[in-house]
Amino acid sequence: MTALSRDDFAALDSTDKLRGLRDRFALPADVIYLDGNSLGALPKATAARVAEVVGQEWGRDLIRSWNAHGWAHLQQRIGDKIGRLIGARPGETLVADSTSVNLFKMLAAALQLRPGRRVILSESTNFPTDLYIAEGLAGFLGQGHELRALPQEAIEQAIDEGVAVVMLTHVNYRTGRMWDMARITARAHASGALMLWDLAHSAGALPLDLAGAGVDLAVGCGYKYLNGGPGAPAFLFMAEKLQNQVSPPLSGWFGHASPFAFEQHYRPAAGIMQAAVGTPPVISLAALEVGVDLMLEVCMADVRAKSVVQTSMFIALVEQELAPFGVALASPREDAQRGSQVCLSHQSAWPIMQALIARGVIGDFRSPDIMRFGFAPLYVRYSDVWEAVIQLKDILASGVWREERFHAKSLVT
Ligand SMILES: Cc1ncc(COP(=O)(O)O)c(C=O)c1O
Repeated sequence: MTALSRDDFAALDSTDKLRGLRDRFALPADVIYLDGNSLGALPKATAARVAEVVGQEWGRDLIRSWNAHGWAHLQQRIGDKIGRLIGARPGETLVADSTSVNLFKMLAAALQLRPGRRVILSESTNFPTDLYIAEGLAGFLGQGHELRALPQEAIEQAIDEGVAVVMLTHVNYRTGRMWDMARITARAHASGALMLWDLAHSAGALPLDLAGAGVDLAVGCGYKYLNGGPGAPAFLFMAEKLQNQVSPPLSGWFGHASPFAFEQHYRPAAGIMQAAVGTPPVISLAALEVGVDLMLEVCMADVRAKSVVQTSMFIALVEQELAPFGVALASPREDAQRGSQVCLSHQSAWPIMQALIARGVIGDFRSPDIMRFGFAPLYVRYSDVWEAVIQLKDILASGVWREERFHAKSLVT
């Protein structure tokens, strides 16, 4: 096989169907941004939309905006838009709260739906908040519920009659490994368990078909591939068939059947609004909607196709260029088993990543030894893939990462 060259990547950029999208983002010219799996880039239209919501809707129209500008319906409106990206039916997706809080609500609903069962089954390498929330909920209920967190290989075997809900992150945050959603969901159902997916690293990165897979419950982030901004509101999905069977237990007034009747007792709203809790963050919702609308302009199959080529070429180039430097691939080589990120392990991953970031190539570090590179196809160019690996090679070959300044730790990695 002939070696990959810069020209191969330039050629792919010139025929890229999605290349026009990059200009819709406010990316600094001197940055190669490979961290959209952690915080998505800023759409250019966001600032104007937020200014409009602040200046006109809030500033001028004040409280009238709840009705006049549809603030009261934003959670459902944007929820349904996200629903189109994840293969949900209208009325099954709601924007609300954070992913962590939504996990609590959805897990609690699942446990209510399976009263005779006590186990929340998950993966020991799941994102910590998922495990923490499950642990906290099990302890809070005080009825013998337990989180059973097992290695990935042991999950399928462990789905038995004691499991109330299988809770998995579709694309693993650290390795990028992707579960077969339809197969695992069917496996959970065959044992009478419910299936809850965390779509933090999937929504906006690849096509999803929650309805087709028969998924029961799901959650996901607004600030990653959906480009909703730092701390953007999250989303949750409740299959229509479950909405009449259970109500999530955080019974706040926004989830009431008639919030402005100010009744003394809680009555859940019909449909997905029962999963709402309190007054939604309107300005943040407006920013999120811009990101979601941008995503809806493209076809998710095109996004996935570009992502697969970018991640597989990144892996091939790493293997071509970095073989002597002790860098190991920590993501699946098989395209079908990989999300939109590639992780490399190295015992000095932290200072190496800091040296790379200092050159404007932004990925991130995940403890203890992972350099993580996310490929958001709306704005990452093929030439960025080339440049990132060449810069990484230079950092490794020169040993510049050994400098003291790259070793200082930060809170956020
Ligand atoms: C899989 C997964 N779930 C949840 C979260 C974060 O949840 P929250 O938005 O509540 O902080 C992350 C953050 O990176 C994540 O990777």
